[in-house]
Amino acid sequence: MLDRSAEVGIVGAGSMGSGIAQVAALAGHRVIVCDANQETLARLKPNLQNTLTKLQERGKITAESASAALEHVSVSDNLKALSSCGLVIEAVVENLEIKKALFQELEATVSLHTVLATNTSSLSVTAIAGALKNKERCLGVHFFNPAPLMPLVEIVSTLMTSEAQVKAVEALVVNWGKTTVRAKDTPGFIVNRIARPFYGEALRLLEEGVADVATIDWAMKEFGGFRMGPFELMDLIGNDINYAVTESVFAAFYFDPRYRPSITQRRMVEGGLLGKKSGRGYYDYASTAEVPQPRLERPVGELIFRRILAMLINEAADAVFLGIASAKDIDTAMTKGVNYPKGLLEWADEIGLRSVQQTLDALAEEYREDRYRLTPLIRRKLASGEGFYG
Ligand SMILES: NC(=O)c1ccc[n+]([C@@H]2O[C@H](COP(=O)([O-])OP(=O)(O)OC[C@H]3O[C@@H](n4cnc5c(N)ncnc54)[C@H](O)[C@@H]3O)[C@@H](O)[C@H]2O)c1
Repeated sequence: MLDRSAEVGIVGAGSMGSGIAQVAALAGHRVIVCDANQETLARLKPNLQNTLTKLQERGKITAESASAALEHVSVSDNLKALSSCGLVIEAVVENLEIKKALFQELEATVSLHTVLATNTSSLSVTAIAGALKNKERCLGVHFFNPAPLMPLVEIVSTLMTSEAQVKAVEALVVNWGKTTVRAKDTPGFIVNRIARPFYGEALRLLEEGVADVATIDWAMKEFGGFRMGPFELMDLIGNDINYAVTESVFAAFYFDPRYRPSITQRRMVEGGLLGKKSGRGYYDYASTAEVPQPRLERPVGELIFRRILAMLINEAADAVFLGIASAKDIDTAMTKGVNYPKGLLEWADEIGLRSVQQTLDALAEEYREDRYRLTPLIRRKLASGEGFYG
């Protein structure tokens, strides 16, 4: 039973671990944070105090809950401090061997009933669980960055996870004010898989010379209502991070051409054009730089938007087809995890599956690339006349 009285252990006090610790502490748990790095650990409580003070000043939390949350959190460089935790969430460096060794060490430390969760974005949760004696207790609890602000948490069960553990963790995380969706343990889970064409197809359009960066960004905002265009978003995420996710998803899918990374993006990374954080990516962030203006031509803009949206919908529908997640959870994940203006499958019903099929089939016919294959689920739905929501 995981209720408010459960102690929560966090391993890894970096961006994700410290954010998750804040969420759990504000929800009333005693939280123990472990990290191998003493300096990182020493910074945790002063940083948390600053954040809580700011939240209090902005009227988001009361002075009582701020001081209670701070008191609830303790830090340690020894995993033994986690021995009485009901749940441990791991958020250390993204390295499978390190995570497997850590989970084995945790299993030797905690009680038989402690749930062990990983916040991995791209590794196999099953491979981590496989390192344990009791594999049923392990699952993925994938928060988004920054954890205190992003509402979505993907709950990832493996072939071995017990349903009781999944339900207990879901209920707990919902109590923390988060929205959960369930995903099968497959590369990229929901969001990082389904969002790939937002970047990949935009890069293809750029490489083919259909339009420049500013025009593609404008088209997605103007016709799709996206808050940011693909290039603005890649620059914000960091081209190195975005490229690494694409490469890992591509390799994990046995090099399915649908996920093939872009040479353009690779060159950006090689050249150190990482985006906002390095001062230059697809855009130049120097204050003196000229802001590129989009080509405000409706037909080009609509073509760009239609093509990227069709690819996104196809990816979302294929994930339903393969049982990765339900249509409803996929729509929730994309709206809450990456702020899409609308759920992709709701959008599919709205614009009509016929138009998605026509766009994809025309691309497949023209390019003769497997990248543009339409998911069988859309063909089946067209044959039966059903949509995703009735
Ligand atoms: N940053 C993101 O946007 C994001 C989003 C979702 C999930 N994730 C995942 O969360 C995890 C952590 O990411 P992050 O961005 O917070 O990383 P980070 O580099 O900010 O922090 C990792 C922390 O783990 C510590 N650490 C490394 N090995 C350790 C060990 N063996 N024992 C104890 N502590 C150890 C490091 O000292 C560091 O403080 C990764 O698995 C990552 O894929 C990251």
